[in-house]
Amino acid sequence: MQPTSQVNQRIARLAAHLNPPNLQTEETSGLMRENCRAKVLHLYDVVNSPGVTADISHMDTGAVVRGFLGQQQLEDALTGMDLVIIPAGVPRKPGMTRDDLFNINAGIVKTLCEGIAKCCPKAIVNLISNPVNSTVPIAAEVFKKAGTYDPNRLLGVTMLDVVRANTFWIQPAEVLGLDPREVDVPVVGGHAGVTILPLLSQVKPPCSFTPKEIDFLTDRIQNGGTEVVEAKAGTGSATLSMAYAAVKFADACLRGLRGDANIVECAYVASQVTELPFFASKVRLGRYGVEEIYPLGPLNEYERAGLEKAKKELAGSIQKGVTFIRK
Ligand code: LMR
Repeated sequence: MQPTSQVNQRIARLAAHLNPPNLQTEETSGLMRENCRAKVLHLYDVVNSPGVTADISHMDTGAVVRGFLGQQQLEDALTGMDLVIIPAGVPRKPGMTRDDLFNINAGIVKTLCEGIAKCCPKAIVNLISNPVNSTVPIAAEVFKKAGTYDPNRLLGVTMLDVVRANTFWIQPAEVLGLDPREVDVPVVGGHAGVTILPLLSQVKPPCSFTPKEIDFLTDRIQNGGTEVVEAKAGTGSATLSMAYAAVKFADACLRGLRGDANIVECAYVASQVTELPFFASKVRLGRYGVEEIYPLGPLNEYERAGLEKAKKELAGSIQKGVTFIRK
């Protein structure tokens, strides 16, 4: 990694484009090119990357964009990168859980992380591929095996849960005239079903909810991904909102890398906040990735019960990822 003042904000966005096409990867790439902090953007995929690269390269943002196609070009795509975003893998169909994607996506994440360990071991990794609760432990195990593991540089992206929470809680309160970008709902735990734990007692600006509202909002936030999967009726999962969230998170990482102060976001990281080895909570991002992990803060009884459920499911998902590499 160069000294921060010289950091060129080089980014690789890695996709394994499977059937049906995972549009989120194109959307993420397009939005990343728009991001003025990205100076060099490498797009990798196993199909279609020349077309996507040509398309995106016409955007007048000044970022250099290069495309890489197929596994033989993976190392070139990764060499010299400061930040790697991984949205690779297959999306869900109605009726599936994120864990149902494990068998296909685990192997894809493993291959990409082996490439990172070899070609850009100091890069910050933003892992989006589902099931995130298991793919982050997979990545950690791959990096440990390669001797390059730095827990501060491996982040599971849970930003879409925060984006949804911010949006959903002000929808019934449109009358309050709040802008979702000015509200803050911490979402902790993981990125699947009950592991997604919104801390509604900590929303900013402070707001009190009835027990019925809390139930409704918690359920909607936990099942936001499923809501999109069902609405898309077999053609994929969230792409546009996920790309928005991915770029928002990547931008926060880039601002941290650049040395900006007080960059705080929720992310799924190696953690001691609970007894589990990985957990999503608020983290402060800086020049070396995660610089501080914040405790959960005071939880109410409803949230404490949710935390127990979340931890139970997360423990199994983490173990599944670890076993996949160690077996
Ligand atoms: C989401 O939250 O929308 C993504 O994790 C995709 C999915 O399968 O739900």
